[in-house]
Amino acid sequence: MSSPLEAPLLDRIKSARPTLWCNPAYVPAVDPEAAEGLSKALDDWALIAPLLEALFPQLKQSGGEIASDLIDVPDLQTALGYGAPHFGRLFVKGDHDLPVAGSVKARGGLFEVLMHAVNEARAFGFLAADESLTKLASTEAHSFFGRRTIAVGSTGNLGLSVGLAARTLGYNVVVHMSADAKEWKIERLRRFGVKVMQYEGDYNLAVAAARDAASRDPLAYFVDDEDSELLFRGYSAAAAELKTQLEDAGIVIGPDRPLFLYLPCGIGGAPGGIAYGARAVFGPDVHCFFAEPVQSPSALVQMMHGSDQPLPVYEFGLSNKTEADGMAVATMSQLVARRMRERLAGVYTAGDDDLFRWVSLAYSHAGLQIEPSAAIGFAGPHFLLSTEAGRHFCATHLAPDALNRAVHVAWATGGSLVPEVQFQTFVDRGSSLGSQFDLMREDL
Ligand SMILES: Cc1ncc(COP(=O)(O)O)c(C=O)c1O
Repeated sequence: MSSPLEAPLLDRIKSARPTLWCNPAYVPAVDPEAAEGLSKALDDWALIAPLLEALFPQLKQSGGEIASDLIDVPDLQTALGYGAPHFGRLFVKGDHDLPVAGSVKARGGLFEVLMHAVNEARAFGFLAADESLTKLASTEAHSFFGRRTIAVGSTGNLGLSVGLAARTLGYNVVVHMSADAKEWKIERLRRFGVKVMQYEGDYNLAVAAARDAASRDPLAYFVDDEDSELLFRGYSAAAAELKTQLEDAGIVIGPDRPLFLYLPCGIGGAPGGIAYGARAVFGPDVHCFFAEPVQSPSALVQMMHGSDQPLPVYEFGLSNKTEADGMAVATMSQLVARRMRERLAGVYTAGDDDLFRWVSLAYSHAGLQIEPSAAIGFAGPHFLLSTEAGRHFCATHLAPDALNRAVHVAWATGGSLVPEVQFQTFVDRGSSLGSQFDLMREDL
């Protein structure tokens, strides 16, 4: 561990107080390796677009594209306390409303399932190299896939995304879930005909159980959230979409107008893939921060420690208990940790009460329906501009005055499928907590 802030930081982490860690190994740079990865991702998405369109009627209009809006939120920006000029401009990336699966997991889960289906159909001679992929939406294909199984471990949203895509193709699907999984997500999966297995233990245990069960079935394929190249590639394409949207809004990112992405993090695949793609697109002018609940800072401890060994948050006396179920992960993906070593600007944490406050504000000031996990991005500008570590980061990595023109994107990762009654309880809980954020009471 090399940061001089380390000892006080560790104390803060252990006492579950909000924290910002800036990565001393971070190197903002042009990134040819990420550019190559992104180019492959975009080609693959273009390949499966006709199949997506054939499988899901709601994708007809977009030609099979899985994309979300970039939302300008001036009223919400002021309500969050970011109205002063030095906060630049805040946007929300609306992955909470992504078509088909209603969360960022649509980008990874749909991608991996469809890519696997194509590979499997070709390997077994069902689909010839020159045949249209839309054959995989036929009744015949449904029976071909119906003899096979896809398994996945999930806190909820990955299961929804993989489950929906795989069931639509005809696969049998088993989703292995942790004790934190929300009942409505389980019910929805069962309604799709997905078999749900739930475990007393945490998410990493559910993933291990899924891996083990799939390894015993020769016709089963396991979507490995801890170690999946395909999931990672699927997420990465989001960055190219963001670039087009910023340009359409007349915003060109560069040294004088830096971009900050605040990415909710569980196992790390979604934020890691997006950050990787963002490096490919914006090079040294984008700075990506992962965001985690105070009780589940798996990326924070792993990245800070720099170890090659998995480091569970339990070793820091933390419980991994949070209402932000998508981020209730004790140990981050080692694949993502390796890839982020020099690419990640930092990691911050926030408490559950603030997540509910932000859910409530995002609804009342921007009409957004997001779940608690998806709200954590709203803490980003505070950490960056109003804390000592954040100011030090800006002084080190930004051109003077660039902050006034900076673009901050809070990545909203899920929520549009949350049942109305459940969502209202989030909003009510947020409003009842009052408007004083715990984060802003902290001396950071
Ligand atoms: C709403 C939401 N946000 C963020 C995440 C984090 O994604 P990852 O686990 O890939 O880091 C998840 C994961 O399920 C999620 O459901």
